[in-house]
This record gives sequence, C-alpha cells and structure tokens, in this order.
Amino acid sequence: MLSVIFVAASLITFALAQGVGTETTEQAPPITYSTCTTSDGCVTHDASIVLDGNFRWIHTADLTSCNPAGFNQTICPNETTCAENCLIEGVDLAGYNTTYGITTDGDALSLVFGTGGARVYLLDPSGNYTDFKVMNQEFTFDINIANVPCGYNAALYFSEMEVDGGLSSLNKAGAKYGTGYCDSQCPKGDFFDGIINYNGSLGACCNEMDIWEANSKATQLTPHPCNIPSEITCSGSQCTSVCDPSGCDFNPFRMGNPSFYGPGMTVDTNKPFTVVTQFVTDDGTATGTLSEIRRIYIQDGVVIQNAAVNIAGLPEVNAISQELCTDKIDTLFDAASFNTFGGLAQMGESLARGAVLVISLWDSLGSGMFWLDGLEGSNPSSPGALRGNCTTANSVSDPSASVTFSNIKVGDLNSTFASAVPPPISSSSSAPTSTASAPAATQTHWGQCGGMFYSGPTVCGSPFTCQESNPYYSQCL
Ligand SMILES: *[C@@H]1O[C@H](CO)[C@@H](O)[C@H](O)[C@H]1NC(C)=O
Ligand SMILES: *[C@@H]1O[C@H](CO)[C@@H](O)[C@H](O)[C@H]1NC(C)=O
Ligand SMILES: *[C@@H]1O[C@H](CO)[C@@H](O)[C@H](O)[C@H]1NC(C)=O
Ligand SMILES: *[C@@H]1O[C@H](CO)[C@@H](O)[C@H](O)[C@H]1NC(C)=O
Ligand SMILES: *[C@@H]1O[C@H](CO)[C@@H](O)[C@H](O)[C@H]1NC(C)=O
Ligand SMILES: *[C@@H]1O[C@H](CO)[C@@H](O)[C@H](O)[C@H]1NC(C)=O
Ligand SMILES: *[C@@H]1O[C@H](CO)[C@@H](O)[C@H](O)[C@H]1NC(C)=O
Repeated sequence: MLSVIFVAASLITFALAQGVGTETTEQAPPITYSTCTTSDGCVTHDASIVLDGNFRWIHTADLTSCNPAGFNQTICPNETTCAENCLIEGVDLAGYNTTYGITTDGDALSLVFGTGGARVYLLDPSGNYTDFKVMNQEFTFDINIANVPCGYNAALYFSEMEVDGGLSSLNKAGAKYGTGYCDSQCPKGDFFDGIINYNGSLGACCNEMDIWEANSKATQLTPHPCNIPSEITCSGSQCTSVCDPSGCDFNPFRMGNPSFYGPGMTVDTNKPFTVVTQFVTDDGTATGTLSEIRRIYIQDGVVIQNAAVNIAGLPEVNAISQELCTDKIDTLFDAASFNTFGGLAQMGESLARGAVLVISLWDSLGSGMFWLDGLEGSNPSSPGALRGNCTTANSVSDPSASVTFSNIKVGDLNSTFASAVPPPISSSSSAPTSTASAPAATQTHWGQCGGMFYSGPTVCGSPFTCQESNPYYSQCL
C-alpha cells in the first residue's frame, strides 16, 4: 500500500515538473556539419541549431510570464513549485528568424544581433546536443565577420555541458529547448543544470574552450579550465573558486602583432576565411595530454599560419602551450588562475570527456568589450594591455551587426582543409600565344572555388568539380 502511494505521488510530480509549452511547436533550424578522416575524407551529418533556454518565453499554464523581471516569487516560491508551475516555450522557424535573427542555409548559420543577439547550440537528431571530442583532432569552420563591429563578439566555443541539457524530474525540456548552459564564468542565469534558478543565487560552472571570440577588429583563442570533473552547480564563494574566468588567451594584437588580423590585414576580415584549430597531444593520441592548441587560417585558398608572437623569455611562438601560458602570466600581468585550475592539461581532460558546441553573437557596449578589442580594464599593478583598435568612440550600437558561420568540420589533424596552395599565375609568365588568354588557376581537392566575396580560382583541378555548400562557400569535391 505504501509503495503504491509513493509511486502515484512521484508520477504526479514528474508529470507536473517544468515541462514544455504548447503554444508554439519547437522547430530548430536545420544545419549540416562534417566529420573527416585522413583516409576517407569527409562525411556530412544532419543536425540543427537550438536556441538557449534563457532566451525563451517561460510561462505558466495560463500564459503568465514566470520571470517578468527575475522569477515571480508567487509562481516560484521554491525550486519544486517553480518547476511545476513553469513551462518553457518552443520557437518556430519564423520566430527563430524574426524574433532572434537566427537563420540557417545548408551548412551555414547566420546570426543578426537585432535587439539582443542570441546563443545557440548544435543539436543532434537524437535530441541530445552533439558531443564533440576534439583531442588529437581539429575543428574547422568558415566565417564572414566583416559586419561584426567593435563592442560585439561573434563567439564559437565548447562548454562541458551535459549532452541531454540536464534532463531530470525538475527539467523535462532538456537539450531540445536549449537548457543546461554552463561556462567558466559560472553564470547565474535563468537555469542551473537545466533547473530554474528561481532566486538567482546559483551558478553553473564548467570547463570552457573558447575557440573563437572575435569581431572584425580583434580575435582571441582561450582555454578556460576548471578543476572539477564536469559541470557543477555553485553557490557563494564557490562560484569564483573552481574555474579560471580569465583563461590563457592568444590575441595577436595584444601579443605584439597588431597588423595580423583586421580589415585589410594578413587575415582580412573584410572577406570570409576559414579557421582551423588543432588540439595536439603529447603522444599523438586522443588519450594523451593536451600539449598545444594550434591555429591556421585559410583565405582565398591560401593557408596562413597563425601570427607569430614573441613573449620575453620564450622563442617566437604561434600556438598556445603550457610554457606560453606560464610565461605570459609574468610578462602580460595575467591572473595566475590558469595554472591554479589545472592549466592546459586540465583543459585537455575536459575536451577528452566531450563538449557541447556553443555559438553566440553578443555585445557589451556599456562597459565595452575591451578585454577583447581595446584597452582592458585597469589593473593596479599594470597599465592594462591593448587588445585591439577599439575605443568607446567606435563601440556603438549596431542592431544590424551580423555574422555567418558555415562549413563546420571536425576530424583528424590536417584532414579538414586543403594544405596545397595553387601557385598564383602571373600574367607576365604565361607564354605569349596569339589571342588566347592565360589559363585560369585551378583549385585543388577540398579547396574553395566560389562564394560571395571570394576572389580566388573558380576552376577545380580534374577530376574535381566546384560544388556550392552555401552562398558564401563553394568547394572542389
Ligand atoms: C506574480 O504572479 C502572480 C500570480 O500569477 C501575479 O498575481 C502577480 O501580478 C505577478 N507579479 C508580477 C510582478 O508580475
Ligand atoms: C514550495 O512552496 C509551496 C508553495 O508555497 C509549498 O507548498 C511547498 O511545501 C514548498 N516546497 C518546499 C520543498 O519547500
Ligand atoms: C527572415 O526574415 C526576413 C524578414 O522578415 C525575410 O526577409 C527573410 O527572407 C527570412 N529568411 C528566412 C531564411 O526565412
Ligand atoms: C542522451 O544523453 C544521455 C546522457 O548522456 C544518454 O543517457 C541518452 O542515452 C542520450 N540519448 C540519446 C537518444 O542518445
Ligand atoms: C535559492 O534557491 C536554491 C535552490 O534553487 C536554494 O538551495 C537556496 O537556499 C535559495 N537561497 C535563498 C537565499 O533563498
Ligand atoms: C585603428 O583604427 C583607425 C580607424 O578607426 C585607423 O585609422 C588606424 O590605422 C587603426 N590602427 C591600427 C593599428 O589598426
Ligand atoms: C599537419 O600538418 C603540419 C604542417 O604541414 C605538420 O607539421 C603536422 O605534422 C601535420 N600533422 C599530422 C598529424 O599530420
């Protein structure tokens, strides 16, 4: 008898726990990505782009907002009652576009800032987030960042979130509704581990690997380790004592190479380019220790090695290593927390366990995004480093700020991009032949051969043909 009552009671609780709204059927925009191996090339996979739960309408059964300005304490007097009373609403394709500025086309995702930007995740057809394991692998994407000005950040990164979005008796929405966000800042958002943070006191901490934080004027690559095995819910001082929120960043401008990245520079942000990030291990296997994070760019079919920088006491380097991070702490006045929280090795342990792909477009105009693109905040012991050419004068509101990420690939080192570069055909070297013009340069297998803003070769070497992936990118396949 007792057990029957217990089962009945728990069923009721489960049925009422934070569910999903029925006003709008969720329609996460479709996108494709590829996995590649050196031996077999690339395979395309279907996935979708799901909006983070913090951006959604959370309401009661009678459509009252649960969080008009923070969670309403009548609807949400405690965790359990809040979960029972509140539903998280779906967003349809039209809403993704017109309310949030999110559209997809083939393998491309475009984000338009509008009134507030957005944060999205890559969702597998299984209903879980795509689980990326990038140790001894590389992660590659194309980006058009020309229209992301100072003060804005078009970010692509990994967080060690739970792949099911923290599904539980208090969270029946899960990854399909974008729950479960966490990062190395231990943010106190609307949810912690997918559960409504009704009183705003709890944070969600986890390892974070910032592959890309950038605008058209500045870029930064930053591991942020936490000395915890996976995601944790924090409160009080714990929220500032388990993760490294500063990270060990690689920003060419800040590290002495101001002409590498930006409009008209070596990596010319006026035009689309490819970003390759390699997670190299000490023993060349996925179970080794993370020893280097390498960066390669490809633009107009030309491979561009990352900016080489010279930090006092080290030979010139263009990759993140434990040595660079340790040395940088002394010379660039970083907080020492990177090493306190386990350094690069700890970051690697997290990446080996797997991570969720996060893409966002956000701004910080009031206080400036100067930790990324300008003169960073004053530190009593240092004047602060200049990280980019942005000032308060040019960090101004621009609702039309937009970015396109496309052609996401993950795979064996050197398998996701063409390293062979066709030599440019110079007009004076072509043999003078009657009226025929010099033959056009041809692009090699995997190389770019077309797309908006692209000006390189458009003909593919035999037997490959030029195939459009999206309006910004065609490839020799
Ligand atoms: C909080 O919710 C109650 C019950 O629905 C409602 O009467 C009240 O107006 C709400 N408060 C605010 C500030 O929305
Ligand atoms: C939560 O609040 C409701 C409504 O005030 C109350 O009935 C319930 O006992 C509370 N639950 C807990 C676990 O405090
Ligand atoms: C998104 O909405 C805009 C404005 O309503 C419209 O012009 C555009 O075609 C829509 N894009 C997609 C992919 O639906
Ligand atoms: C989703 O992830 C959870 C947690 O890892 C796992 O238990 C479950 O089997 C996954 N579901 C699917 C459909 O893959
Ligand atoms: C806030 O909510 C959490 C549970 O979500 C609870 O553990 C904590 O005691 C609450 N704190 C306050 C100040 O109400
Ligand atoms: C900084 O930006 C200004 C225009 O805003 C430009 O004139 C100047 O050349 C830039 N300097 C560097 C180092 O990029
Ligand atoms: C990838 O290419 C680079 C540059 O050519 C080379 O140094 C490195 O050894 C290659 N790595 C692998 C695993 O093939």
